[in-house]
Amino acid sequence: MLTRTLRGWELPERAVTPERIYHDRRRLLAGMAAGPLLAAAGPLFSAAPAYAADTLAGRLPGPRNETYKVDRALTPEKDATTYNNFYEFGSHKEIWPAAQKLKRRPWMVKLAGMVEKEKTLDIDDLLAKVQIEERVYRHRCVEAWAMTVPWSGFPMKALVDIARPLLGAKYVRMETLADKDQMPGLRQFWYPWPYVEGVTMAEATNDLAFMVVGLYGKPLPPQNGAPLRLALPWKYGFKSTKSIVRLTFTDQRPISFWEKLQDAEYGFWANVNPKVDHPRWSQATEWVLGKDRNNRVPTLLFNGYAEFVADLYKGIEGEKLYM
Ligand code: MTE
Repeated sequence: MLTRTLRGWELPERAVTPERIYHDRRRLLAGMAAGPLLAAAGPLFSAAPAYAADTLAGRLPGPRNETYKVDRALTPEKDATTYNNFYEFGSHKEIWPAAQKLKRRPWMVKLAGMVEKEKTLDIDDLLAKVQIEERVYRHRCVEAWAMTVPWSGFPMKALVDIARPLLGAKYVRMETLADKDQMPGLRQFWYPWPYVEGVTMAEATNDLAFMVVGLYGKPLPPQNGAPLRLALPWKYGFKSTKSIVRLTFTDQRPISFWEKLQDAEYGFWANVNPKVDHPRWSQATEWVLGKDRNNRVPTLLFNGYAEFVADLYKGIEGEKLYM
């Protein structure tokens, strides 16, 4: 059932800029020719989204989908947005300042491969076609840190339906933008850019697979994968591809970025399982972002989502499902 509840971190209604004033500000901005004027006006305009055609205005966070309940506190927004993995901006956790450079409009998403007809969608046209909802999901990185955050977005199945894949398509290959001018991490030439991941069609159309465009009721920040990323909460976080520019439908199992780099440590399935250790560390417990690093809590099979996804893996138990 979809209900709309107000969270503590949301602005009170009176503090939100009414849409009309927001548009007036943008018109005023467009009319301003002089740089110094803009600089002087800085603080007044800083709350406005940086997008020209913001099809998300007034649509975030969206009604909360209560199907997916989480028995953990939300991670503080500051932790989820300042401790990130986004190797295109650097192979460390403090990439958020560098990521602010990412140009999020215009943004095109190509739907390619085994589809009725390949198409390239403008993100705003895509957003106009889908219903935005909010889901609180756990996220478990393969490095053994975890968070719980409110994503806004739409089921990946809606995007698959728009793509109209052919019957023979078995996998979806997701690809991140790779632009050297915006992404300093790409200078690390030993990584197999672009960042690629893949899921089966059954995984892509499972209701848990979620295309994300917002976080904590706001447009998704660049460091978290704006303007369009995936959230696959039952898998290790590296499967959740950020800043997606291309989905390719294929009958070949995609080889992911991490698998290309180190196939002894990272595989295709990468489902969370506390009983299957990473070759270099235990996966039995995790550190929750914002809490004491030494106060670890147990990791759950499929990261707590077994009831929704365990059936996807019946009959293929012989595969390396947990690495
Ligand atoms: N997507 C791209 N394009 N590049 C990356 O480096 N890192 C992955 C995943 N998606 C990554 C990516 C990993 S390892 C994790 S844990 C999550 O993004 C982190 O998401 P977050 O920074 O929003 O917490």
